[in-house]
Amino acid sequence: MVSVAILGAAGGIGQPLSLLMKLNAHVTKLNLYDIVNVTGVAADISHVATNSEVKSFLGADKLAQAVTDVDLVIIPAGVPRKPGMTRDDLFKINAGIVKGLVEAVADNSPRAFICIISNPVNSTVPIAAEVLKGRGIYDPKRLFGVTTLDVVRASRFVRDIRPKIDAATLRIPVIGGHSGNTIVPLLSMASTPLDLSETEIAELTNRIQFGGDEVVKAKDGAGSATLSMAYAGARFADSLIRAIKGEKTVEPTFIHLAADEAGAEAYRKLGVGSLEFFAVPVELGSQGVARIMPLNGNVTDGEREAVAVAVNALDANISTGLNFVRHSA
Ligand code: NAD
Ligand code: LMR
Repeated sequence: MVSVAILGAAGGIGQPLSLLMKLNAHVTKLNLYDIVNVTGVAADISHVATNSEVKSFLGADKLAQAVTDVDLVIIPAGVPRKPGMTRDDLFKINAGIVKGLVEAVADNSPRAFICIISNPVNSTVPIAAEVLKGRGIYDPKRLFGVTTLDVVRASRFVRDIRPKIDAATLRIPVIGGHSGNTIVPLLSMASTPLDLSETEIAELTNRIQFGGDEVVKAKDGAGSATLSMAYAGARFADSLIRAIKGEKTVEPTFIHLAADEAGAEAYRKLGVGSLEFFAVPVELGSQGVARIMPLNGNVTDGEREAVAVAVNALDANISTGLNFVRHSA
């Protein structure tokens, strides 16, 4: 029995993600919350012939109910980018949205696993951590920034130049954060050796880092990635749910490194230093983060340099998130 709440369920990501979670056989209860349009979305999805119960929660006065007695909360609520914007430009609106939603989760399901999709992930995850700390219930093993789309893109973009590779099974660790040059794909550690030229590595790295911009540009003002994100979010949620049910699964995700300081050591030596939050490959277990996976070999000089660039940008993003909560008492 796994109860899931999706906050922002009527949005571009929220709708297909809700459908995909309705198809997940482990899910028994699906609470769909939004401030608009969610009644129809829930009615529609509730007709899909799987066994879970779907309930709709419309408007702020239903938020507490939506997040009561749930095991897993997925948050895609907030505004998406338009061409010309960075993810950090979304902070002004999304910071307050994520803060309010996590406060409600903390008050009503303090042990819930929380997966944050809302951008800028590099700052919204620290916001969530700070809210939970303020409530005295913070467990860094149970809070995740969803960076799965970067991993999904890495596999698919490699296949674009190596058509014999199976994109569905290829795994490339992507570490760092979730915006531009904070996204660091470790192509040298792909699950299948790739034998890429320096030019191919540079082009692929850039495409993975700015894959989100490709979609924002193509949608031309109508938002950012929604369908691929719903796929990625459902994949992460499924890995976490299977872990809660006793399997060991591995996904890269943006976490508080305090979740496993011993495992974080290898990444700290790589140049992450004292940074609090970083995306790393994580083994998931019944209590959330079971351990941070070790690096599978030696990183290249180029990957080490990319980490240094990411760390500088991440440091500022993380402080922005933490300070937002600390100064908004
Ligand atoms: P959208 O505008 O289509 O949907 C957002 C939904 O959130 C809307 O239905 C809106 O009503 C709802 N919402 C707004 N304020 C709310 C609140 N206080 N409580 C509950 N719901 C609220 O946007 P989208 O395309 O679904 O994107 C959502 C977010 O996900 C954006 O911030 C976007 O940047 C981010 N995103 C992240 C990733 C990632 O890889 N982590 C990928 C794609 C998009
Ligand atoms: C993405 O990577 O597609 C998302 O973070 C949305 C965006 O703004 O690019």
